[in-house]
Amino acid sequence: MTAPILRRLEDLRGMQKAWMRAGETVGVVPTMGALHAGHLSLVEAAKAASDRVIVTIFVNPRQFNNAEDLVNYPRTELDDAEKLAPFGVDAIYVPDPDQIYPEGYATNVSVAGFTDVMEGEHRPGHFDGVATVVAKLFLQTGADQAFFGQKDYQQLMVVRRMARDLDIPIEVTGCPTVREPSGLAMSSRNLRLSPDGLARAARLYPLLQSIAARLAGGEVFHTLIGPVRDQLAAAGFTDIEYLDLRCEKRLEQLETPIRPARLFVAAWMDGIRLIDNIEVPALTG
Ligand code: PAF
Repeated sequence: MTAPILRRLEDLRGMQKAWMRAGETVGVVPTMGALHAGHLSLVEAAKAASDRVIVTIFVNPRQFNNAEDLVNYPRTELDDAEKLAPFGVDAIYVPDPDQIYPEGYATNVSVAGFTDVMEGEHRPGHFDGVATVVAKLFLQTGADQAFFGQKDYQQLMVVRRMARDLDIPIEVTGCPTVREPSGLAMSSRNLRLSPDGLARAARLYPLLQSIAARLAGGEVFHTLIGPVRDQLAAAGFTDIEYLDLRCEKRLEQLETPIRPARLFVAAWMDGIRLIDNIEVPALTG
């Protein structure tokens, strides 16, 4: 059954209050729509953990540092509602813009520190936009639990820190990245790749896996970067914004995985910006 689509905060609050009175827990899956199997895995996790599930769909203008990217971002509300139908979610919250940013809106939520690197460095203002809208969605939904994909690992960390610092009583769960059979991490932006671009973008994941294996075998990161950048360029990536090995708790740069670590990459294919990250096994011995 298709879930009700709510566009006004008062309607969402009405539903949420009734659930709270009944002692039911609420899970939220914040999205910008163009739902794919990665989002649906978050919905599944939310359904398993919470009595009630709200999926939010809001293309948040404040987190786009590139006007063209905002205009071109896929908007597929009807398809999204159909994709959600089999999951039996309780509400789809698609707020009208003034429900998030009413006339005269003046508040910004900014998480300092690990927002300076990677996505934060290359997309100025992006994480302020994310932290602001997610804080609002957490408060508006009153959810007990929230579910985010690890593909946006840095975002997951920012959101967790924001909720903790602002005492928003919500548990933030990170769910594994879902990949195409080719290994390409699922992303709404993949919709904008040509078939040839998709095939070439799929070279990214095996390359990350091979670097991870070499690091786990004792090789030092800086000796691998040059050849890997060359291989990415040969695959057709036009701009490799970053390729970093970082500790997964504080995002400090590492040369070897002496602590739990992840490899992070952002690169452009066919004019589309793609990001990915994978866990790197810790050095043994
Ligand atoms: O990951 C996303 O789709 C967005 O950044 C989010 C978390 C829905 C906030 O707009």
